[in-house]
Amino acid sequence: MHYRDCSCASLRVEDIGRSVTLSGWVASRRDHGGVIFIDLRDREGMTQIVFRPEHHPKAASEAHSLRSEDVVTIHGEVVARLEGTENDDLLTGAVELVAATLHVLNRSEVPPFPMEERIGNEDLRLTYRYLDLRRPEMTANIRLRHRVTKIIRDVLDEEGFWEIETPILCNSTPEGARDFLVPARLSPGKFYALPQAPQQYKQLLMVGGVDRYFQIARCFRDEDLRADRQPEFTQVDIEASFISDKKIFALIEKMFQKVFREARGIEIKTPFLRMTHQEAMNRFGSDKPDMRFEMELQDISSIFSKTEFKVFRGALDNVGVIKAINAKGFASITSGQIETLTEVAKSAGAKGLAFIKVENGEWKSPIVKFFTETEKAELSKQLKMEEGDLILFGADRWETACAALGRVRLKVAEYQKIPIDREELAFLWVVDFPLLSYCEEENRWNAVHHPFTRPKAQDEELLLTGRLGEVRAEAYDIVLNGVEIGGGSLRIHERDLQARIFAALGINEVQQKELFGHLLNAFQYGAPPHGGIALGLDRLISLIAYEESIRDVIAFPKNNRGMELMTGSPSPVDEKELRVLSITSTSKK
Ligand code: AMO
Ligand code: AMP
Repeated sequence: MHYRDCSCASLRVEDIGRSVTLSGWVASRRDHGGVIFIDLRDREGMTQIVFRPEHHPKAASEAHSLRSEDVVTIHGEVVARLEGTENDDLLTGAVELVAATLHVLNRSEVPPFPMEERIGNEDLRLTYRYLDLRRPEMTANIRLRHRVTKIIRDVLDEEGFWEIETPILCNSTPEGARDFLVPARLSPGKFYALPQAPQQYKQLLMVGGVDRYFQIARCFRDEDLRADRQPEFTQVDIEASFISDKKIFALIEKMFQKVFREARGIEIKTPFLRMTHQEAMNRFGSDKPDMRFEMELQDISSIFSKTEFKVFRGALDNVGVIKAINAKGFASITSGQIETLTEVAKSAGAKGLAFIKVENGEWKSPIVKFFTETEKAELSKQLKMEEGDLILFGADRWETACAALGRVRLKVAEYQKIPIDREELAFLWVVDFPLLSYCEEENRWNAVHHPFTRPKAQDEELLLTGRLGEVRAEAYDIVLNGVEIGGGSLRIHERDLQARIFAALGINEVQQKELFGHLLNAFQYGAPPHGGIALGLDRLISLIAYEESIRDVIAFPKNNRGMELMTGSPSPVDEKELRVLSITSTSKK
């Protein structure tokens, strides 16, 4: 059987008169009083087919039975469309194929959802993902993902990076999430962990002299899912020896330049803006600030240094700060929205969310009665308050006040529908992250990035004197439009320093040997200085595709309950199978 001469997106005016065979799916069928039109679709595009009973009665009569998603082969002649019926939206819109013969290769049931538009029921789309993928919008996303991955591979190859696979069945790697475990039948009672990232392997490759490594690496993290999180996701994982952070930034900037140029036709400016973690938190209340709009956090503590208002006084007396944002023109906020914003602030640890609405020349607020005239005048001046503005306050420890207002800022922007140019790309390097953060609940220090991250040389003194919270790391994140699309660091390559950091994290010598003995040993055999980064490929593609959810750029994603609905995983297993793996199940069937 001869299936096709070209794709359904190929035919042009120059092909008029040619005799051509096409294969694809019936996207739609229209009956115009005997003359039948179908749109024939494949992954490349669409071609209009005409069945004319007066020319080819057999094909035309068979075409009556065609239904959406039937898969067919059609042979015919390319003709110009009648004047006025051309379709500029289609690449093939100037021509049509007059069908001489029709072969139905396979029939389709009525699809469970219309193929032309995106339906809201995502679970249904995921259950029938093989149909969802046929929709041109999804086809475009999958094609884009291929293109971008290919460009990334090419750039890294040109720069001397080798693509190397690392184990999927391995030991636990501490990236901050819960591990997925795999029982090891041959070692009863023992488990492999699926990698949260290939972090230790890529460092060990550097010890192995590989010098420049990359991998399009699948990573597995058992954490709560969101629109930009999947339990298995893909990183562009990179590591290099004898390299500086500046060189890593330049490499990634060059890569993004090429990606956006070739995949989107957008010329991006480099170098990207750089901002310290401290400044990002202070000005935007986030370690991944969305720089496409302003609404910056202002410190107004000095205005209220003598205040008697208990909320502000309490914060200042507790070595805290008072911060505020001016949501310009948003005095029209509803009380329901204020309540939601207060919940948003509380989710970041704030105790409340004081506000002022400037309406009809008056300040409407439960708290201004506590302000003096001078305080009001200074506040108005610093926040450039005008008719119609909404001011929101955070009075707390610096970290809490910033984080709370940072979240409020994003929610306000969402409410206000601040117009953002789709093509605008706000890239940002956030640098100088803290090395460690204190976890009150667990009463111990955690690594902000991961335990292999290098402290800044100038802060090593702080490490020795126990001022752990002040130590900065040689760590960086790359942010695009408020989304963390990658993160990395320069690493520790000295055994002693690594052991000291483990100790600061509460990992004693016995545990160090058990969990990280291989790494500590390797560092004793001439480990080179090294560093790297990992980009979240799914997030990057979703931003390039203007998709809100990374699920729309993954062929077979899990839903927000971690289920892959098409094949129905995860699924129960037999007791017998568990016994072979030396596992007893306690969960009820
Ligand atoms: P990190 O944990 O920051 O770094 O991960 C790197 C990037 O991966 C993306 N990402 C995710 N994407 C989708 N779903 C998830 N659940 C998910 N988790 C993370 C983010 C993130 O910026 N080994 C280090 C990198 C290094 O130090 O070189 C690491 O994994 O875009
Ligand atoms: P209260 O006197 O506790 O009712 O608080 C007065 C106003 O201040 C309310 O609108 C609270 O939401 C708000 N508020 C309380 N604590 C804080 C805080 N730490 N930061 C900002 N606003 C707060």
